[in-house]
Amino acid sequence: MRAARLSGSVLASGDMPDRAWDAGLSVLLTREQIQQRVAELARIIAADRAPGEDLHLVAILKGAFLFLGDLVRAMDRHVTLDFMAVSSYGKGTSSSGEVRMVKDLDAGLEGRNVVIIEDIVDTGLTLSYLQEILRARSPRSLRTACLLNKPSRRKVDVKVEYVGFTIEDRFVVGYGLDYGERYRNLPYIGVINAG
Ligand code: IMP
Ligand code: MG
Repeated sequence: MRAARLSGSVLASGDMPDRAWDAGLSVLLTREQIQQRVAELARIIAADRAPGEDLHLVAILKGAFLFLGDLVRAMDRHVTLDFMAVSSYGKGTSSSGEVRMVKDLDAGLEGRNVVIIEDIVDTGLTLSYLQEILRARSPRSLRTACLLNKPSRRKVDVKVEYVGFTIEDRFVVGYGLDYGERYRNLPYIGVINAG
């Protein structure tokens, strides 16, 4: 029974099946579509700097954790990484615009070629706050990569040099993105079905 469970084919008697945990979702972007586009972005971002040049990626937690992981594994060059965690107030499906820094970077950015790695740009409030505080640290260059772009909801004009996919105004989950901290571990991007 134990071996069968590990292979994922049979549940031990008495266990609660948990197979339908993503049953209420519709797939917007498949795992394959994401993998292909992220690999393309990785090549573009890496090629924008000469091989010997510094390339420092600043990932915004938690949403960008899978995007970053797949992105750097597709980059055939040296990169350095740092992490910043921000939290927008409120747990709902729309951002309040108030951003709180939960974890700051470990290292300074002075003179470095920095690329911010973010999951999604929606109203743009989070990203414009991040760009402002990071620009104040005097990087040599500052660019931004977002896996997803929802332009219909933009409140502030924010520059994003690298965009994975532009999507309609739907609340999406998966591949790092959450709803109430859940669904971040989905390998695809889905939409929660209404009703
Ligand atoms: P913005 O400040 O409105 O641009 O929102 C940015 C942040 O809101 C993102 O980093 C996400 O954490 C969250 N967010 C915006 N849209 C979505 C969505 O469709 N699904 C999950 N999180 C989202
Ligand atoms: Mg979130």
